[in-house]
Amino acid sequence: MQPIPDLDILQPTSSAPDLAEGIDAPRTLGQETDARDGQRRVYIETYGCQMNVADSELVASILGAEGYGLTQQEDEADVVLINTCAIREKAEDRVRGRLAKFRAKKVQTKPDLTIGVLGCMAERLRTKLLDQEKLVDVVVGPDAYRDLPRLLAETAETGQAAVNVHLSREETYADLAPVRYDSNGISAFVSIMRGCDNMCAFCVVPFTRGRERSRPVTSILAECSQLVDLGYKEVTVLGQNVNSYRVDADGHAVDFAELLYRISLLSPELRIRYSTSHPKDCSDALLHVHRERPTVCDFIHLPVQHGSTEVLRRMRRTYTREQYLDLIERARSIVPGIAFSTDIIAGFCGETDEEHAETLSLMEQVRYDHAFMFAYSERPHTYAARKFEDNVPEAVKKRRLAEIITLQNQTSLDLNRQRIGQRYTVLVEGLSRKSDAQLCGRTDTNHMVVFDREDYAPGEYVEVEVTGCTSATLLGHAIRQTTLVEEAV
Ligand code: 5AD
Ligand code: SF4
Repeated sequence: MQPIPDLDILQPTSSAPDLAEGIDAPRTLGQETDARDGQRRVYIETYGCQMNVADSELVASILGAEGYGLTQQEDEADVVLINTCAIREKAEDRVRGRLAKFRAKKVQTKPDLTIGVLGCMAERLRTKLLDQEKLVDVVVGPDAYRDLPRLLAETAETGQAAVNVHLSREETYADLAPVRYDSNGISAFVSIMRGCDNMCAFCVVPFTRGRERSRPVTSILAECSQLVDLGYKEVTVLGQNVNSYRVDADGHAVDFAELLYRISLLSPELRIRYSTSHPKDCSDALLHVHRERPTVCDFIHLPVQHGSTEVLRRMRRTYTREQYLDLIERARSIVPGIAFSTDIIAGFCGETDEEHAETLSLMEQVRYDHAFMFAYSERPHTYAARKFEDNVPEAVKKRRLAEIITLQNQTSLDLNRQRIGQRYTVLVEGLSRKSDAQLCGRTDTNHMVVFDREDYAPGEYVEVEVTGCTSATLLGHAIRQTTLVEEAV
């Protein structure tokens, strides 16, 4: 979910030029709250995608309602919760390292410390983490967060491990208002569906997060509307397979295109993004919503995974290279100027040099603005693990990945250079990471822009002229403050 190359922990949203599974450091929820009398303080560390960050916010609000306090300092915590990612082996290894460290602390200096594992590793590694390695006290799967207060109380009382890894077909946490602990007060994530039914051959998500289920429209609209009232300027709607969203509302099927349309009616000044989508669910109706609604950003994270039809078939992606390229062309003709990012896997089972070359040639054809690129990592239970041999040598995977990254960096730089001299409406997200004298924010097309602060402030829309760039960032100077309504005229 952020983020390249092959990085396995979440990328800070403030600098995210992307919205996918990216990653470079674990996240700690960004607020301190007091515990009610007699209650304990919790430290939550989050790995993986934006969905995990959104889930950690849910967990924080569930525990907050029970009087737990939140701390950003692991040393001050009575309860440490690690929200985990299982998508690649490396991600799992990192989490294990952290758990071992907390366990050592508990044994050596802090016997009352409670250590919990949340999320994607819970189901798969429950036995190992609990029985064999005795690393944790509480294990809670992604559909069982409501049970967390009970489980924490149980382990505190009995000294025994407490577990709930039940995967639900219904749970969407629709009625729970997440507390935006991890937000800049400008852009927020809204979870609209959970799980995935696609069963791509390489992917562990359907096993860790269960079946697809969509959250009711009314609760999504209510949450977005509340965010507007609170002054938020951007929502990113989230789901493992977000554009397969579908619910029955009063006998009428609402799909993703209609949902976005309805969210866009809430405010003319609220930008709308989404992540992460599957090409098979990228309908013309959805593209027309991008075209017709000025606040629906002209950017799609549209993972291709590979450039060869034969590899896509082995990956069970359900589309061919040609169908994917047609989709990109259709999108560009319906929504001129739309930008794309993607996910690409190098070294999938049986990948030949010729097949790898097809990935490079597809990248050259599409010219993505941005990509998340990974070496294939075999995951347990997946179709690929059961049916294919992970037979591309590590050195070859690495070399192919490096070629993919080099090509993408060059393309990103070329595309950014073409933007020099153009003006864009930037939603200011905060200070730039490098200097307090500069602000950063993103264009409609999800390009990060850095410019001199002057008298502008986070939360404002500012027209910025691009004067320079790197492959990851546009540099510019502010022209004037603006609004989305003005921009659309
Ligand atoms: N190995 C490497 N990359 C993977 N991804 C998912 N599973 C694997 C795996 N087993 C990548 C895909 C997906 C992104 C979130 O992570 O590109 O779109
Ligand atoms: Fe994994 Fe494929 Fe589902 Fe994405 S669509 S979460 S890659 S199974």
